[in-house]
Amino acid sequence: MAPEDATPVAALIRAAFAAQSVVTDPLPSALRVTEADVTAHLHMGGGVVAEFAGMLVGSALWVAQHGGLYLGRLAVAPSWRRRGLGRALVAAAEAAARNAGLPMVRLSTRLALLDNRRLFAACGFVETTREAHPGHAAPTFVNMEKRLSWAPGPG
Ligand SMILES: CC(C)(COP(=O)(O)OP(=O)(O)OC[C@H]1O[C@@H](n2cnc3c(N)ncnc32)[C@H](O)[C@@H]1OP(=O)(O)O)[C@@H](O)C(=O)NCCC(=O)NCCS
Repeated sequence: MAPEDATPVAALIRAAFAAQSVVTDPLPSALRVTEADVTAHLHMGGGVVAEFAGMLVGSALWVAQHGGLYLGRLAVAPSWRRRGLGRALVAAAEAAARNAGLPMVRLSTRLALLDNRRLFAACGFVETTREAHPGHAAPTFVNMEKRLSWAPGPG
């Protein structure tokens, strides 16, 4: 992802998160993502875009955090889903983690989004902890992580 991608990537993220399989409570903060947010994220970390014939169809952002790579704002344009782009973007994040010498990739997803949880599990992520958004008594999202195959196990 290059700095000049920030405007179309922000629009793609908003469109992708507006078309999740379930309407979540609270609504995703990704619906309000701006070009400035994406630019700031790129300064802190990096990202990848998927393009077809010059058209932006997918993107992901990441940042090194707590000894791993945190993958966020994974987005595929609604009409381009279920073709493996999501998995390919996750694989790009794993490659970025390896290049940075980081042993794991982490992400979070809403508990209500069973399709996302299944996709990430199929990619090799395991659930670690569950948390609640402010004002919610019950957990609303789950944290997941994938230890990369080259990395040593815990202990
Ligand atoms: C989550 C998201 C990025 C997934 O993108 P995607 O491109 O559809 O992901 P993939 O195509 O790699 O995988 C999705 C499903 O399609 C299936 N699939 C992949 N290639 C396929 C193909 N050629 N034919 C049919 N199905 C296929 C996968 O097996 C997977 O199915 P499963 O979950 O039942 O196993 C996308 O739905 C999205 O942008 N959602 C809104 C934003 C969001 O929720 N982001 C994640 C926040 S944590």
